Amino acid sequence: TQFLNSIELIEKIDNRQKRNQDRGNQKPEKQNSFRNVPNTDWNLKANRDWLKEVKSGWENPEDIEGTVITIIGGKAGETREEISLEGWNGKHPWKYQLATTGDYSHFLGLESTWNKKTASERAELLKMAAVEIEKNRGELMAVAVKELGKTFDEVDVEVSEAIDFANFYAESAKEWENLAERNIGDGVHLILSPWNFPLAIPIGGVLASLAAGKRAILKPSTNATATAYLISKCLWAAGITQEDFAFLPTEESNLDEFLSSGNTFDAVILTGGTDTAKFLLKRNPELKLYAETGGKNSTIVTSLADREQAIKNVVQSAFGNAGQKCSATSLLILEEEVFEDAHFKTLLKDATMSRYFGNPWNNETNIGPLGMPVSDKLKYSIEHTPDEQWLIKPKLNGDFFLSPGIKWGVTSEDYEYQNELFGPVLSVMKAKNLKEAVSLANGVEYGLTSGLESLDPQEVEYWKQNIKAGNLYVNRSTTGAIVLRQPFGGIKASSFGFGMKAGGLNYVGQFMTFNEPDLTL
Ligand code: SER
Repeated sequence: TQFLNSIELIEKIDNRQKRNQDRGNQKPEKQNSFRNVPNTDWNLKANRDWLKEVKSGWENPEDIEGTVITIIGGKAGETREEISLEGWNGKHPWKYQLATTGDYSHFLGLESTWNKKTASERAELLKMAAVEIEKNRGELMAVAVKELGKTFDEVDVEVSEAIDFANFYAESAKEWENLAERNIGDGVHLILSPWNFPLAIPIGGVLASLAAGKRAILKPSTNATATAYLISKCLWAAGITQEDFAFLPTEESNLDEFLSSGNTFDAVILTGGTDTAKFLLKRNPELKLYAETGGKNSTIVTSLADREQAIKNVVQSAFGNAGQKCSATSLLILEEEVFEDAHFKTLLKDATMSRYFGNPWNNETNIGPLGMPVSDKLKYSIEHTPDEQWLIKPKLNGDFFLSPGIKWGVTSEDYEYQNELFGPVLSVMKAKNLKEAVSLANGVEYGLTSGLESLDPQEVEYWKQNIKAGNLYVNRSTTGAIVLRQPFGGIKASSFGFGMKAGGLNYVGQFMTFNEPDLTL
């Protein structure tokens, strides 16, 4: 490696500072290849100063008090309900307008030329959307922290993922059409998105649909409406029109007439609860559903692991975003020797306690509040666990602030084994050996992510051959899949209907409507 003298080093750092500050002014990428964008480098003072400025613009709730987050792309002259909601910080300063069935019918009936555009034309608009999202990185981060209690680090990563989706799906559209040439597009997609990833997941579904030549309606989780609204605005600012993409938040009941029979939508892309997916399919088996649902994910640590590295990865996987990720590790399965290792236990406890839990508006906070009031499942687990079983007992303060907890010695008979708690509670299990650990990991209903901590290639091979999950990670956290590098999606009860992995090579292609029956790839 090259040794840098101090002057060169300072110049290098100066250049990086410039790059980070200037990235909002970038031009869309021209080359036909995809690169992941970097997250904000908080080591750079320029970036920390920038965040301070962004935050100061959001400090005074009076500035946004009474704002109505409106629907976009609906029918003129409709009377719409406006609702208020509470979040981690009390009542939200804004109101949410709800779309009517008339708004949906209006958008569905519009004439649009979106599917007449070439893949290159669509790709150019998507790349402009990536630029707009980057320009608005600070605002997007702030609104998600304010609305859902995410930490600044977590939302920074999410903005990067949203940009990656835009650039990657743009390239993907071109590649597919180069192969097939006769994508006739046509049709409307409905994107039903969750509150725990309020930026990347809604916009990822919309961008993939647009890339494939479909028009798109976004119906975000009502609790994440303001965040979804701001990122949606980046698409219209990029030149995508309201005839091609509409933002229509509403109550689920307003969608009954469109979802309960037939195929109004060319695809419904759901990221949400397993129960929701089951309900939608049971009610209408013809629905073209692409659903990514829950997870009950494990990380196995064998006696041949780098134990300190394992702890670092597990703490990130279990408590990032307060454990509210379908990809989170919620079962830590330790091979007997590790389970009995008192030092490992102490380090796990210390590593967890050293995370800053509290107000997400503070930069140093690693574990913020819950995005939704504490669930019955979390409450049940806390109330039914004897005090002596907690390595760290979670404490609930109000409905939203739940400090991290670790339950020690959970068995397959326990409530926590099968139930997705979706919060900062980690259950630790013991296994005789890797074989038993894998069988415990596979014994759950879900199959989304799975982690192995081991430095032994034979163990890694055994685990890879036998574990049943969509995303497998070795000596790395189970959360934070990176576009193209780790396409994301599950098996078993973690996936319903159709579906290639999001952020993967086939994701856009699966939505295209080809009219060449003899298409051979
Ligand atoms: N894609 C996210 C992750 O990997 C979850 O939705 O954590």
